[in-house]
Amino acid sequence: MEEERILEPKPTEDDIDIDTNLRPRTLPDFIGQESVKSNLAIFIQAANKRSEALDHVLICGPPGLGKTTLATIISNELGTGIKVTSGPALERAGDLAAILTNLEPDDVLFIDEIHRLNRTVEEILYPAMEDFQLDIVIGKGPSARSLRLELPRFTLVGATTRAGMITSPLRDRFGVNAHLDYYEPSELREIILRSAGILKVSIEEDGASEISLRSRGTPRIANRLLKRVRDFAQVKKDGKIDREIAREALSFFNVDEEGLDKLDQRLLKVLIDKFSGAPVGLNTLAAALGENKETIEDVYEPYLVQLGFLQRTPRGRVATKRAYDHLGIEMEQKDDFSTERML
Ligand SMILES: Nc1ncnc2c1ncn2[C@@H]1O[C@H](COP(=O)(O)OP(=O)(O)OP(=O)(O)O)[C@@H](O)[C@H]1O
Ligand SMILES: [Mg+2]
Repeated sequence: MEEERILEPKPTEDDIDIDTNLRPRTLPDFIGQESVKSNLAIFIQAANKRSEALDHVLICGPPGLGKTTLATIISNELGTGIKVTSGPALERAGDLAAILTNLEPDDVLFIDEIHRLNRTVEEILYPAMEDFQLDIVIGKGPSARSLRLELPRFTLVGATTRAGMITSPLRDRFGVNAHLDYYEPSELREIILRSAGILKVSIEEDGASEISLRSRGTPRIANRLLKRVRDFAQVKKDGKIDREIAREALSFFNVDEEGLDKLDQRLLKVLIDKFSGAPVGLNTLAAALGENKETIEDVYEPYLVQLGFLQRTPRGRVATKRAYDHLGIEMEQKDDFSTERML
């Protein structure tokens, strides 16, 4: 059986329920990300005052940090409808045209994974975003003619986990840029306490803190761990989550004190043991772990980099001294490939 990744930041089947029940619906319920929130609040108020559509918004950030949640909140706060689609779902120009012509005035159009739009579809989006016009070509060959349709004003909200993969003409057409960062433990604790309230789980503040520290800065993981710890507490005790039971449950689920699981640890150990601490290229690392490159880049690395356990150097990936310390492995001076020496 494949090892389950309790710390996987992308949604699993189970999460779909958790996500919908626990998703905040208004801006004040959205915890953390203060600067994004205060900027959006101003733009939304201004748009509401002028009774105009909000400028297009691009939301960037790692999986599970609240991009979809924020898109829904924007439409709630504007009091408009929302149409939801994604980059890969819009295969042809016609797919996008059908959605655009069905928008009501001021609607939010949410395009998830917008970095995965193909070129032809993306090019249709430009005049739609800029001038609220849709250019379509009808027919083929000499009899082809192009048609221009007026669209209602709408707000495009695009979400991406890969800001670097958005083309610059597309990026330039967004008026508002919201960049989500990993959450602080104190914010995650608040999210956990809020979720516990909704799920009617009895939890002490200490218990919530313990879970928050191991949630990899990610609300989706915090909510998932809360549910797992609750199950554990119900089986082992009276269902109440305090610090002790949270610690016991998390170590039972192999989530260590920094929020690393066996697979993260294996990645670091491969860098340290198998390659003796020398920089390792992404392809080699992927082969050594039997994982694909995208998973390593999108799932494992961001959090390890954030923790300061991993560096991406021009010559490859290296484990840092902090990673050695965390794993209790002695770092030999000759094996120090840290950036200071390399750059
Ligand atoms: N700021 C927040 N406050 C409270 N809960 C949050 C917050 N952000 C996210 N969540 C919770 O985390 C869950 C995951 O958030 P969401 O689905 O919006 O993430 P995402 O960034 O769209 O992820 P993906 O990249 O996988 O699409 C939501 O169901 C919500 O309950
Ligand atoms: Mg999402």
